[in-house]
Amino acid sequence: MAVEWAGSGPELLFTIDRDSGAGLRTQLEEQFRDAIRGGRLAGGEKLPSSRELAGALGLSRGLVQDCYAQLQAEGYLTSRPGSATRVAAAAGLPRPTPPPPSPPTRPRPAIADFRHGVPDLRLAPREDWAWAIREVCRTAPNTAFDYGDPIGDQHLREVLAAYLRRVRAVAATAGQVVVCTGMAQAFGLVLRALAAGGVDTLAFEDPGTAGSTTGQANAAGLAAVPVPVDEAGLDVEALDRSGARAVLVTPAHQWPTGVVLAGHRRQELLAWARRRDGVVIEDDYDAEFRYDRDPVGSLQGLDPDRVVSLGTVSKSLAPALRLGWLVAPERLVPALARDKLVTDRGSPGLDQLALALLIESGRYDRHLRRARTEYAARRRTLVDALAAHAPGLRVTGLAAGFHAILHLPPGAVEQEVIDQARQRGVGLYGLARMHQVPGPHPPRLILGFGDTPEHTIAPGIVAVADLLRG
Ligand SMILES: Cc1ncc(COP(=O)(O)O)c(C=O)c1O
Repeated sequence: MAVEWAGSGPELLFTIDRDSGAGLRTQLEEQFRDAIRGGRLAGGEKLPSSRELAGALGLSRGLVQDCYAQLQAEGYLTSRPGSATRVAAAAGLPRPTPPPPSPPTRPRPAIADFRHGVPDLRLAPREDWAWAIREVCRTAPNTAFDYGDPIGDQHLREVLAAYLRRVRAVAATAGQVVVCTGMAQAFGLVLRALAAGGVDTLAFEDPGTAGSTTGQANAAGLAAVPVPVDEAGLDVEALDRSGARAVLVTPAHQWPTGVVLAGHRRQELLAWARRRDGVVIEDDYDAEFRYDRDPVGSLQGLDPDRVVSLGTVSKSLAPALRLGWLVAPERLVPALARDKLVTDRGSPGLDQLALALLIESGRYDRHLRRARTEYAARRRTLVDALAAHAPGLRVTGLAAGFHAILHLPPGAVEQEVIDQARQRGVGLYGLARMHQVPGPHPPRLILGFGDTPEHTIAPGIVAVADLLRG
């Protein structure tokens, strides 16, 4: 489709060589013909007015008008009285053949979809974000529009440090906080800093996010090894045997089993880090959504010298904002800052100020309270529906976040349950594919309710209850 320019005409990259000996109008006409034939100017595209183009190229307006008239006569351009000159629809390159239709995306299941990993995008705080951006644009000094500190705006880092101290018991000062493009970038920065410091192997939880973790580790020059998770979280003895000197963990709510890293395991993990001169990378991805009465604080708060904590607004506000942070021991910050500078010169400055304003104004907490209430209601509905229609099945991992683990009866075949449920209009997802170490693994489903409207939960469970009971 031709680009429609609003207001004044578009700029054109044409050059006029006054020393070439060729006539000025000839040069201009030739450049138009070439641009149209070569596809740089598409059929229907609006051209600058003769006055604008003459001004931009230092030509007389009459010369440009003559050029336009000539190209109209040749069929390259069209113009109607009172409207802009345009490239003729039939001129230029033949329309590219449309790409073959992409395979149809799988329709969302008709009754309920228990997909996981995404918050409810309908809850994204559009009004709050728009308010914060408007306030920032209205009140920020001109210097806020300059390049900023690559590790993040000082004010946001102070606000985040205070917030994380208050809510997550993170031991943070602004100097330890690096603002990043989501957890994904934070993780990459940490891996590269560790690799530069001689770490060559990263351990990660199994089951877990093997694909992206291994990909990022390998890209940073590290090997990645899976370490099993049991009912108490990461198996620290197995970690010790792995030979790794860094480990990525989700202690507050293990992804995907939902297990909370037990107190004794926390101590063992930190002891491992001290003994090995190792580093624990804590992914605190959904810590904002806890439903138990005794929320677990961050691991980082227990040993700020050995733990790097990673956070994100992807679950609390929306993934599209691409805002996150890391809290690192001070010795790592210079390397992280250099890397961040080279990578992107710092995260978007106005968005950082908007996030600081949301937190300081209390709107962030207010949004979290609303979202938490909504997710808690869905969680209750899910638990009640399972108790009523698939009684006796174990449901675990409910302390936080927006997914639960349903343990299917022994002998159930995870994939068969998923396939049959799909035929009945219910999206179910299994845990087997999240294991790196080959099974057999007990049949389990991850029941996400972040993006599952509450009114669909009970009908979804009813529709597949007989499959779940085995
Ligand atoms: C385990 C885990 N941690 C963190 C995130 C968030 O990553 P980001 O902040 O880059 O969106 C995700 C995203 O799905 C995730 O699955």
